[in-house]
Amino acid sequence: MANQQPTVFEAVGGWPWFVSLIDEFYDRVDTDSVLRPLYPEDLTDSRQHMVGFLGQYWGGPDTYSQQRGHPRLRMRHAPFAIGSAERDAWLGHMVAAVEISNADVEIKQRMIDYFEMASTHMINTPQ
Ligand code: HEM
Repeated sequence: MANQQPTVFEAVGGWPWFVSLIDEFYDRVDTDSVLRPLYPEDLTDSRQHMVGFLGQYWGGPDTYSQQRGHPRLRMRHAPFAIGSAERDAWLGHMVAAVEISNADVEIKQRMIDYFEMASTHMINTPQ
C-alpha cells in the first residue's frame, strides 16, 4: 500500500544491519572490565540472541520468540547484578554502536531513546 510506513527493521536493511550493530556492541563488551565478567566465555549465543531480539523488537520476523519464548527481559537479567555502573557501561557501548552505524539520524535517535529507557529498566541492584 502506498502510504504504509516501512518498519525500522526494513528501513535499516534487515538482519545484516542488526548483525553489524551487535558485532560492534559485543566487541566492545568483550574488552570491558565491568561487563565482561557477567557474560559467558563464548559470546556466540549472546550475539545471536541479541540480534534476534532487536530485529524482532524493531519490526522484523519473530525468530527470537520462536526460539527463546517470551522475552521477559527483566527476569532473564535477574541472575546478574546490574547497577548504574553496569547500565552506564552497557548503554555507552550500545550508543557507540548505533552512532557509527549507517542508519538515518531519526532512527538512531529512536534507538538511543529506547536503549536509555530499557537499560535503566534492567537495573536490579542498588549501588
Ligand atoms: C543494563 C545493562 C545490561 C547488562 C549488564 C546486561 C547483561 C546481560 C547478560 C550478562 C546476559 C546473559 C548473557 C547472554 O545470554 O547474552 C544478557 C542477556 C540478554 N540481554 Fe542484556 N544486559 C543489559 C541490558 C539489556 C537491554 C537494555 C536489553 C534489551 C534492550 C538486553 C537484552 C538482552 C537479551 C535479548 C539477552 C538474551 C536473553 C536470552 O537468553 O534469550 N539487555 N544481558
